[in-house]
Amino acid sequence: MIEIRNLVKNFPDRKVLDGISAEIKDGELFSVIGPSGTGKSTFIKCLIRLIKPEGGQIIVDGQDIASTSSEFTLAKVRRSFGYLFQEGALFDSLTVLENVAFGLKYLTDTPKSDYPRIVKEKLALVGLKDVEHLKPAELSVGMKKRVSLARSIAAEPKYMLYDEPTTGLDPVTTGMVKDLITGMHEKLGITTVVVTHDLNLALEISSRVAMLTGGKFAEVGEPAKFRRSENAAVKEFMEISHLSRE
Ligand SMILES: Nc1ncnc2c1ncn2[C@@H]1O[C@H](COP(=O)(O)OP(=O)(O)OP(=O)(O)O)[C@@H](O)[C@H]1O
Ligand SMILES: [Mg+2]
Repeated sequence: MIEIRNLVKNFPDRKVLDGISAEIKDGELFSVIGPSGTGKSTFIKCLIRLIKPEGGQIIVDGQDIASTSSEFTLAKVRRSFGYLFQEGALFDSLTVLENVAFGLKYLTDTPKSDYPRIVKEKLALVGLKDVEHLKPAELSVGMKKRVSLARSIAAEPKYMLYDEPTTGLDPVTTGMVKDLITGMHEKLGITTVVVTHDLNLALEISSRVAMLTGGKFAEVGEPAKFRRSENAAVKEFMEISHLSRE
């Protein structure tokens, strides 16, 4: 479980997260939505301490990582997370096999001789086969997403974080990524956090959705409740996303 209590993050010229609290329960698929620049990426980066918040707590399985200065604790907690970056961020000079094995090498003490078998398994989970020897430049956009996801799950994380997983993708690839996220969530039982400005995606896949605006969660609830929210920011976001409240 991830317990977020009163999380505060400021940048020199602006307050971004101004006291956010939420509990993300094991097995949940929790989405954070909000317009561009509201702090969604900042939020997700705080969860693995890529950036350090100024205040509050982020308790992951009983360990507060918001303020700890223990590298040991941070490393241990970070190992329980997989992270799919917005751009996918594959290493262009490495093969698919080397890309997917990257986390195994740095996060686990898996013997090198096991890499091919594990990589094959993870690629199969994302629907890819016989691509181990290819370089990222030889892959389609959809395949790159799949390889990035295989890399994120290679070390068998307990939690999976997705930052804008569908931004910039065509509708077909968006549908594929949506199926991958829900597939990983169901098949592997990974507790999942998605940040996105795609309200449609969030309402379709999530067990709960949180609306980030003005540095706070203006509304947190199941998709059905969310659609009926009377919160002004939620209503406005529903309208600009062309979604009906029914
Ligand atoms: N390292 C930084 N230094 C200063 N300001 C930053 C930094 N990172 C983010 N910001 C600012 O914090 C605010 C929130 O940024 P963030 O990237 O978290 O938003 P977002 O909701 O993810 O936006 P988008 O939908 O465009 O991805 C923005 O105004 C941004 O300019
Ligand atoms: Mg962002």
